[in-house]
Amino acid sequence: MSPLLITGATGHIGSHLIKQLAAKGYPLRALVRSREKAAGLPQEVERVTGDLARPATLSAAVDGVERLFLLDPSTGLDFTKNMVEVSLQAGVRLIVDLSSIGAGLDPVPILLRVFSDREALIKDAGMAWTILRPGQLMSNALWWLPSIQAGGGVRDPVGPGRVASIDPADIAAVAAIALTQEGHAGATYTLTDDELLTTKQQVEILARVLGRSIDYVEITPEEAVQDALARGMDQGGVAALREYNERLRADEGAILTDDVERVTEHKPASFESWCRRNAAAFGLGADRLI
Ligand SMILES: NC(=O)c1ccc[n+]([C@@H]2O[C@H](COP(=O)([O-])OP(=O)(O)OC[C@H]3O[C@@H](n4cnc5c(N)ncnc54)[C@H](OP(=O)(O)O)[C@@H]3O)[C@@H](O)[C@H]2O)c1
Repeated sequence: MSPLLITGATGHIGSHLIKQLAAKGYPLRALVRSREKAAGLPQEVERVTGDLARPATLSAAVDGVERLFLLDPSTGLDFTKNMVEVSLQAGVRLIVDLSSIGAGLDPVPILLRVFSDREALIKDAGMAWTILRPGQLMSNALWWLPSIQAGGGVRDPVGPGRVASIDPADIAAVAAIALTQEGHAGATYTLTDDELLTTKQQVEILARVLGRSIDYVEITPEEAVQDALARGMDQGGVAALREYNERLRADEGAILTDDVERVTEHKPASFESWCRRNAAAFGLGADRLI
């Protein structure tokens, strides 16, 4: 069997995907930016050094590959374009593309149009494809850490809006099946757990699991824009961010599907179970305060 190429192999989703596929004995190749960053990958995984930003570095990664998992961590189209071009040249037959639940909203929020543009690019390329559209990654909770540590709590512009989230391990489980089993080419899966939560409810769950209080601060979409401007975001970016936050506030992110269970035949993990598994990443055992 030709190796399965995994991009984003050191990240939240990719590391689960590698672990799950390695446990089943599939031959794996990881595209990595440096050997040091790839040090934690299982030994049997072949590493090819490359960068999605530099097409010339990608040919060796796709050589002899028939199926690949594409995680484009950028905010543009170029990384996907680069990978699609080298894949076509190398005769890759299937791309499993990590997209976003937002690509299925009508209209697609400005901030997330890049995901639907990437999907179109992949579909137009002529190879087989499977599109994975995850909801909010549960690992996004780690983004709160600096602010929690600085005593600022969690600032939330979405207020009453509920979102479905998804454990990166469940995304990986669906990707693993799409890469290794027949019957998933041409499918688009929208990946969520089975509960809708506001950010405030997520913060309460995390605080309960960690056994400490975490401040929750509701802010307006306008205040979020001011925060983003202070971080150096440009005017186009903040306009897109404002639209996105307003739509989430209006509950447009409240989407649940059973796609994880239909594909994997197991229930998706809850946010609480993700918090339990990842409590250590918050620097807190039950006995240790940040
Ligand atoms: N956050 C959300 O709620 C959400 C929702 C829907 C979809 N998504 C998608 O999910 C992605 C994040 O997934 P994740 O959390 O698993 O990622 P992550 O943990 O942030 O890891 C990013 C991965 O991309 C690799 N990478 C970064 N720049 C690269 C480059 N120039 N060339 C090759 N590889 C590069 C990193 O490798 P290194 O080890 O070299 O850094 C790492 O393996 C987002 O980018 C987005 O596309 C996110």
